[in-house]
Amino acid sequence: MYFSNSIISWYNKNARELPWRNTVNPYKIWLSEIILQQTRVSQGLPYYLKFIENFPTINHLASASENQVMKLWQGLGYYSRARNMHFTAKYIVQYYNSQFPENYNEILKLKGIGEYTAAAISSFCFDLPHAVVDGNVIRILSRYFGIEIPYDTSEGKKIFKNLAERELNVDLSAIHNQSIMEFGALQCVPKSPNCSVCTLSENCMAFNSNLIDLLPLKSKKISVKKRYFNYLIIENEDSTFLQKRNSGIWKSLYEFPLIEGDFTEEKLLKSDEFDEILQNSDFTIGFVSKQVTHQLTHQTIFAKFWHIKVSSFQNKKYKEVNWDCFIDFPIPRLIDKYLKNIEKVTN
Ligand code: ADE
Repeated sequence: MYFSNSIISWYNKNARELPWRNTVNPYKIWLSEIILQQTRVSQGLPYYLKFIENFPTINHLASASENQVMKLWQGLGYYSRARNMHFTAKYIVQYYNSQFPENYNEILKLKGIGEYTAAAISSFCFDLPHAVVDGNVIRILSRYFGIEIPYDTSEGKKIFKNLAERELNVDLSAIHNQSIMEFGALQCVPKSPNCSVCTLSENCMAFNSNLIDLLPLKSKKISVKKRYFNYLIIENEDSTFLQKRNSGIWKSLYEFPLIEGDFTEEKLLKSDEFDEILQNSDFTIGFVSKQVTHQLTHQTIFAKFWHIKVSSFQNKKYKEVNWDCFIDFPIPRLIDKYLKNIEKVTN
């Protein structure tokens, strides 16, 4: 229990006051853990507060429209998290009488809840003895115990899961799990941790062998794909036109008509895709933006925005939206940032 005791005593001195720390309400814990996957506390906290203000209970979330949910999530990325939460809230209201299930295997069956989130909810809310394992935990365990096996292999996954379970103090699951997550967020950080102040460094294998910068090991490099987006901002008096994405990372968000590919202006205007969108409308090309770069985990998007004035536009594939109502539509951050920027330039 030495590891667990050390990490809990570190937590007792260093933990941040966070709104989801003093509750055992599974809806709030669930929301916080879903937000905090892939997102830092400083970025996630305002979203958490806004979400709870708008949807204080699972019933409120279940009754909301998809657009309302996606709008509140706008900018956080990984939008399937929001869609799955909305689905699961409706599911719990319908099949569990609005009561969050209290058993690990039942929780794990819910859409959007994997082993990490099921362990977090079942330990924080119901004191069940399940160890959380995520990137933070893997980093800490691999450094402290000097594990030089890549974590993204089937062998590595088993080893880290078994080790996390072995080190869990089953009588203090909730605080053990909170402690290890906080330790990963504040002390044993991915880059340049300040080991000179770390109370665990004396027994840390990586620290004692100068391996901090090398651990944890990973076998595969992620490949980043380049994509070229041309967004057509079709302007008809006070309106523009949007489509809803129905697949991929931006599923359920709205965007301008899109032509994908690395086109010159001349080639774009002559392309079949352009014809298909504009059909027989009379148009004039106005401002064309510079190329904007938007970095996602697995993709670099190079986007250009084409402002196109039309006097009539009949393509029924796109939804006509008055600019006054534009704010109600959930949109990718790439588009939001672009529009805010041109607003600054033109105002
Ligand atoms: N990241 C994800 N869950 C967390 C938690 N409970 N505390 C701190 N950081 C976290």
